[in-house]
Formats: sequence, C-alpha cells, structure tokens
Amino acid sequence: MIWTVLLLVNGILFFLLLSSRSRSKREPPLDKGFIPWLGHALDFGKDAAKFLTRMKKKHGDIFTVRVAGHYVTVLLDPNSYDAVLQDSGSLDFSRYAQVLMDRIFKLRLPNHNPTVEKAIMKQHFQGKSLTYLNSTMQRNLQALLTSETPPNQKDWKRNGLFNFCYGLLFRAGYLTLFGGEQNNNGADTKQIYKEYRTFDDLLTKMARTTLNSGEKRVAGGARERLWELLSPTGLSESSSPWLRHYRQHLREGGADTDTQTKAMLLQLWATQGNVGPAAFWLLAFLLTTPEAMKAVRREFNRLSLNTDTTQAPTLDPRQPTPVFDSVLEETLRLTAAPFITREVLQNKTLRMANGQEYDLRQGDRVCLFPFVSPQMDPDIYLEPETFKYDRFLNGDGTPKRVFYKGGQRLKYYTMPWGAGSNACVGKPFAIDAIRQFVHLVLTHLEVELCEPESGLPAVNTSRHGFGMLQPEGDLFIRYRHSIGNNIL
Ligand code: HEM
Repeated sequence: MIWTVLLLVNGILFFLLLSSRSRSKREPPLDKGFIPWLGHALDFGKDAAKFLTRMKKKHGDIFTVRVAGHYVTVLLDPNSYDAVLQDSGSLDFSRYAQVLMDRIFKLRLPNHNPTVEKAIMKQHFQGKSLTYLNSTMQRNLQALLTSETPPNQKDWKRNGLFNFCYGLLFRAGYLTLFGGEQNNNGADTKQIYKEYRTFDDLLTKMARTTLNSGEKRVAGGARERLWELLSPTGLSESSSPWLRHYRQHLREGGADTDTQTKAMLLQLWATQGNVGPAAFWLLAFLLTTPEAMKAVRREFNRLSLNTDTTQAPTLDPRQPTPVFDSVLEETLRLTAAPFITREVLQNKTLRMANGQEYDLRQGDRVCLFPFVSPQMDPDIYLEPETFKYDRFLNGDGTPKRVFYKGGQRLKYYTMPWGAGSNACVGKPFAIDAIRQFVHLVLTHLEVELCEPESGLPAVNTSRHGFGMLQPEGDLFIRYRHSIGNNIL
C-alpha cells in the first residue's frame, strides 16, 4: 500500500514538474494552454490553421505550444525556414516519421534506412524511368476513363467530383506502380480503393491516437483487408521496376513478408494519397470559375498531341502549359497544408532572418506550417482566400516566380511539396498525372455541376497538417463522353 502511495505521489510530482516548464529569456514565447498535459491539443487537432493563425497574432512568427505532452515550436516566417530545413544535424526528420509509421501503419522496419529508400525512389521517379512511368500512367488513366464513360453511352452519370477524381487517379496510380504484382486474390482496384478510402478517412485520428473504440475497429479492419489485398505471392516481371527494387531492398534489410506488406500500404498512401485530392480541387475551382475554365481550355486546345503511338494521343510533358501550371500552383497554394516537422536532437540556437536568435530544447519538436505563411499570408498575396487562376502568371503570360514579404524577396512563396532534403520525390510524376487527367477530362468528357449555385464544399479542417486538404462532403457533377470525340 505504502509503495502504491509513494509511486502515485512520485507520478504526480513528475507530472507537475513536466507541466511546470517555464520560458527562459532566449526561448520563443511559451503558450501551454490551460489544460494540464493536453495543452492546446484539442484546438490544434480541430483546425490547426485557425489555431496557429490565432497564436501568430498573439505571439508573432515563432512560439512554443504544448500539445498532448509535447512542446512544439512553431515557426511561421518563410524567410527563416531555411534555418530549419538546412540543419539536418540538429533537427531530425525520421524520428517523428517513425512514430507516425507505427501509429498508422503498424510498421517498424528493421534496418530502416530512409536515405537509401529515397535514393531508390529518385532513381525510378526521374529521367528515363519517369518517362516510362508517365506513359504507363497515361495508358491506365485512358483505359479507366473509357470504361467509366464508354463512347456509345449517351446518358449522364452522376458522382461526387472528389470520389470521381480520387477513384480514377488512385486506381490508375495503383495499376502503374503496384499493378504488376500478383495479388493473393487478384484484387480488383475498385475494392482496394474502397478499403483505402475507409482507412484514409480515419488517418488523422490514427495519427493523433484519438480513435474511439468503434473507429478503431473500422480502421483496424480496413488496414487488415488492405494488407490482405496488397500481400503478394510473388513478383511478376511486369510489376513496376521501383516496386521490385523497393521490395528487394526490404528483403535485403531483413524485413519478413508481413513487414513487406505493411510497407506496401505505407507506400500506397505516400504515392496515392495526395494526387486525387489535388485534381479534385483543381477541377472544382475550374468548374466554379468560368474565366479560369475558358483560359485552360484555350491553352489545351492549342497543344499538339503525341500521336506517334498505337495508343490514344497523349500530352507531351515537355510542352509548356503556363496557364495550367498557374492554376495548379494556385490550387495547391489554397489546399496543400502539410506540416513540416522535425525533432530537436540537441539544444540549438535558431537564427531568424531578422537576426533575432532563439534557443530550442533537445526533445522538443519544430513545426513549419507553410499553409499559414507563405501560402495564406495577406502580406504576400492580395485576397489570399480567393482563387485567382492567373496569380502565378506575369502580364506577358510567362510564369511568375517573384513574390515579396516585407520588402524581401521570398525563396519560398508556396510550399505544397515541402522543401529541403525531404521535399517530395514524386513531384514531377504527380504534376504529369494531374495535368494528363485534367486534359483527358476536359477534352473528352462533358462535365457539369449538378447544382451550379452551391459553390465549393467546405474543407475538412481536421486534415490540416496532413498534406492535401479534403472536402467535407462532395461537389456533385454529371458527366458523359463528349459527343463527337472518339479519341478515348
Ligand atoms: C499532389 C501530390 C503530392 C503532394 C502535394 C505531395 C507533397 C509532399 C510533401 C509536402 C512532402 C514532404 C513531407 C515532409 O517534409 O515532411 C512529400 C514527401 C514525399 N512524397 Fe509527395 N506529394 C505528392 C505526390 C507524391 C507522389 C505521386 C509520390 C510518389 C510517386 C510522392 C512521394 C513522396 C515521397 C517518397 C516523400 C518522402 C520524401 C522523403 O522522405 O524525404 N509524393 N510529398
């Protein structure tokens, strides 16, 4: 009994010690929130953009908040981001990534070597390999779109635009990268997509460990079924070269079959989780902004198509599409909201662009949230909440890349792909897939909003921090094969 009481008292003292952290003079402003241990976790999880904008108004461009027992220093000055992105010695990317891998995918890789994995990915998502991947993706997109809207069917189909974009791009991406694998049960891509969406809908709660017991069951069930669907009986010659290489790397690192399958689900998420939602927002903005739609159609109509293959004509990725590129950049500015998180490995001093210095403590986390600044920063962008399709175009139609904050030219004026050594490896593949998809939809389908007056759906604010935002609900469209167009 006496031991129990002693342990309890010790525990309480330890807890008080932890929660009684105070700010030293050289540290960023500290805001612990009122709730012991939890601190600001609830506000952070509900709508990180709203919460961090409020904190920025209160404390400025750098501050430390307590979130579920952790101290997170948030930096919101894009001119100072390099101080974090370029210090991989004191600020570590992979530890926090490992925490999320464990929470979401139940994955612990033996001999995990992110540097080698990234090198493998770069090898297969750049140069000649990228050309091969792009054309496989185009073929898969065309085939799926043809079966979705057969030329001889004149009736309108109805669907949510989010489901339409996510479904087609996910399935085409799956076939391109994973499709050659011989699955145990010959999994149908529609079934994989369905399970994946169930899993994806609960992903932020898995990451925050806030699933209730019912949700735990649903998430766990979807994860198990995805493991089954992704579990290979062997590799076929036609599976993507990247996947074969990655599997070989896992095997050589000592990963057993179960661990390899869990790693497949992680890769499915990393490669398919953002492209569909990005294409959704882009098409949603075009469908609700007629002048933008007109400008993109005009640009697409002028492009020459690659017709020297036996396949349907495709876009040559080397052809410049400045209007489309501006629309994509603007879409991502408004809807890409990843956190860039690092763990502080050793005490360090962070020097801001204005010369001010702050001490960071070992064991804390540092978080950049480019969505708040630069992307939605009114000091950089006029009416930052509004979609302006030509925001990234100069008056002469060339791409606009020069933006300022406080008179200083910005290196990072928008950061949907992250930055520094952990920036997105799949960027060129993702851009080509989105461009190809939007081109196919606009040139080969008739698409209309079911309720033109309804406007864009609201954003699911709990996804702030997890890459591309997703809508609350959907935007309903009707579509059919464009009459007189037999290319598909
Ligand atoms: C619109 C689509 C996409 C967006 C907005 C996006 C965004 C990002 C961001 C922000 C990061 C950095 C995360 C961080 O710093 O913590 C990242 C990393 C990564 N992305 Fe993407 N991504 C997209 C599509 C893709 C695709 C299609 C692939 C692969 C085919 C891919 C592969 C990766 C990989 C492997 C990393 C990790 C890099 C590392 O570990 O250093 N992404 N992505």
